[in-house]
Amino acid sequence: MSTTPLLAVRGLVRRYPLAGGALGRRRGWLAALRGVDLDLERGECLGLVGESGCGKTTLARCVLALERPDAGSVRFDGAELTRLSARALRPVRRRLQVVFQDPHASLDPRLRVGAIVAEPLRIHRLVRGAVLRRRVDTLLETVGLDPTLSARHPHALSGGQRQRVGIARALALEPELLVADEPVSALDVSVQAQILNLLGELRRRLGLALLVISHDLGVVRQVSDRVAVMYLGRVVETAPADELFATPRHPYTRALLAAVPLPEPGGVPHPPLAGEPPSAAALPSGCAFHPRCPAALAECRRDEPPPVPPGARRGAACVLAMRQESLDSTA
Ligand SMILES: Nc1ncnc2c1ncn2[C@@H]1O[C@H](COP(=O)(O)OP(=O)(O)OP(=O)(O)O)[C@@H](O)[C@H]1O
Ligand SMILES: [Mg+2]
Repeated sequence: MSTTPLLAVRGLVRRYPLAGGALGRRRGWLAALRGVDLDLERGECLGLVGESGCGKTTLARCVLALERPDAGSVRFDGAELTRLSARALRPVRRRLQVVFQDPHASLDPRLRVGAIVAEPLRIHRLVRGAVLRRRVDTLLETVGLDPTLSARHPHALSGGQRQRVGIARALALEPELLVADEPVSALDVSVQAQILNLLGELRRRLGLALLVISHDLGVVRQVSDRVAVMYLGRVVETAPADELFATPRHPYTRALLAAVPLPEPGGVPHPPLAGEPPSAAALPSGCAFHPRCPAALAECRRDEPPPVPPGARRGAACVLAMRQESLDSTA
């Protein structure tokens, strides 16, 4: 058995120029990713959660090689994606697929469902004719859709059905990793659970690895084995999902949990998240969370806590959490 993770992200940095200075000159840089480390094992589901603007989509785009980071590395099954040419990337791209947030915007309205699902197979010239049609039918069945829907246009489908079509298309090339960026946030709450169940079921049946991105901890909780919490371009906590929800260590994770309307029986309520979500364009000194942290110490204003070591089973980038951890381990 191979011990290399399917996906290994190390020290990922992505900055965007800030326009708006005098005469349209650059005002500086916005740090969307500030050294992200992340591992994803084969067949694993990792949930990535954090508030709007913390860098989730930027991370996904770097993992999918749609965007080049300014520093750091993205290794997929051992291959360094940031160094591959467009040509060398092509075969790797097949193994990494994406499901977008808004199926309405991501499905071509002029095409019928059958053509949408068939498109990747056609582009990669894998199958055609009757074999292609059968393959499309099977893909539709795999995502719980009736193959007769092939003849419809996306606008004739419900939101949930459209997202299933998006998933069927993503599965057409038999990827090993599926990145789902806010896969249910455009859907009615009643449909969200169905789509999340489908993702979980596909993962079990097809042995897919999943990276599920959401601003909603409730969503991530439903599907993830492991969760990474992001704050302003950094991973601030990672843990197995059940442990993260039972005993969150980073004050930011605690605050996020307090905002989820799922009371823990017998649990102590966590303090809610205070203050404005800060901007990646104007980072606070020290720990980026300190201005909103109910437990911040003087040193938190000054020193950035060390990142969670990649490959650690669990960890939090917080001096208080780290002290608590060492107390726990000596107790
Ligand atoms: N192409 C771009 N040019 C300039 N700034 C960008 C660009 N893309 C993202 N940003 C900025 O980078 C930061 C991270 O954005 P990103 O879209 O990755 O966040 P997110 O966590 O996906 O947010 P959301 O939950 O709203 O989708 C934000 O401050 C955003 O404004
Ligand atoms: Mg996003």
